[in-house]
This record gives sequence, structure tokens and C-alpha cells, in this order.
Amino acid sequence: MTRAVYPGSFDPVTLGHLDVITRGSRFFDEVIVGVLQNSAKSPLFSVEERVNILKETTKDLPNVKVCAFDGLSVNFARENQATVILRGLRAVTDFEYELQMAQTNHVVAPDVDTVFLTTRLEYAYLSSTIVKEVAFFGGDISKFLPPPALKAIQSKLQSKPMK
Ligand code: PNS
Repeated sequence: MTRAVYPGSFDPVTLGHLDVITRGSRFFDEVIVGVLQNSAKSPLFSVEERVNILKETTKDLPNVKVCAFDGLSVNFARENQATVILRGLRAVTDFEYELQMAQTNHVVAPDVDTVFLTTRLEYAYLSSTIVKEVAFFGGDISKFLPPPALKAIQSKLQSKPMK
């Protein structure tokens, strides 16, 4: 049985993330999506909100679980008896950072390997940050997000008017 963790900020989950989760769930017996709690970034959604959005988004994928985590991704993997860290690679701009993380993680935890899935071309440009920016300025983000994330961002923006 091979279990993978898929760590990230997911603020919020995009269709690109969902594509990686869905394809990963076919490769691995179980995929645990880990929502990072201690991010230096100040997220739009609380960790509980991000976990709930992801749970709703992945509810039809029986071998996918979602939880919050704090600290190192490799520790999160080990705590869950996972031998793989799954990450998506969008473009060459992701590569340097992702390679550095994967190599560092492998030195810290040689029993955990990073596996990359290249994102599908149609999602190669997508990022949560860009989607939030389009949303803040009133643009249509319906093509970028799974329905639970779209609903959540719309209600968040209604309760948090633009400054
Ligand atoms: O969605 P993101 O923001 O690209 O995810 C980045 C993430 C969460 C995978 C990365 O920041 C991470 O692994 N953070 C946990 C702390 C850690 O393990 N740092 C060492 C990586 S070399």
C-alpha cells in the first residue's frame, strides 16, 4: 500500500490542485491532502475553512483524505506513514523552488520521496494568488475554482468589502 501526502496552502483549492489530487488518487492507494497551518503568508481563509472547502471538493474521491498540519511536510508524511510527497509542477518557474524543496526534504527524510505531476496545460497558468486578485477586482473566477471554493470566496468577499 502506497500512501502519499499532498501538502500545500490551498487558499483556496483551485481546479489545478483538484486535477493533481484526482490524478494522484489513481496512482496511490491513499492521498492525504495536508493544509499548512503555520504559513508565513496571511491567508484569506482560515485553516478550518480551507480544510472544509477541500473536504467538500474531494467528497467523491474515496481514497482522498484532508487534514490540517503544522511544521515540516516530511514529518506530516511520516506521521501518516506516507512514503511520497505529491506536488504539482505548472511551469519552469515552479521548478527551481520545487526541486530545492524536494532535495532538502529527501536529505531530511530519505525514506520520503517527492513525486511531481505536471499540471494539465489548461491549468498551467492557475494559482490561488492570481485567482484571489481577479476576485478582489470583481472578475469572473468561475472557470478557475471548484464549486465549494467559488461559493466560499464569493461569500468571503461579500462579508469583507474591498478597501
Ligand atoms: O501551496 P504552497 O504554498 O506552494 O505549498 C508549499 C508547502 C506547504 C508545500 C511548503 O511551504 C512546505 O512544505 N511547508 C512546510 C514546511 C516545510 O516542510 N519546509 C521545508 C521545505 S524544504
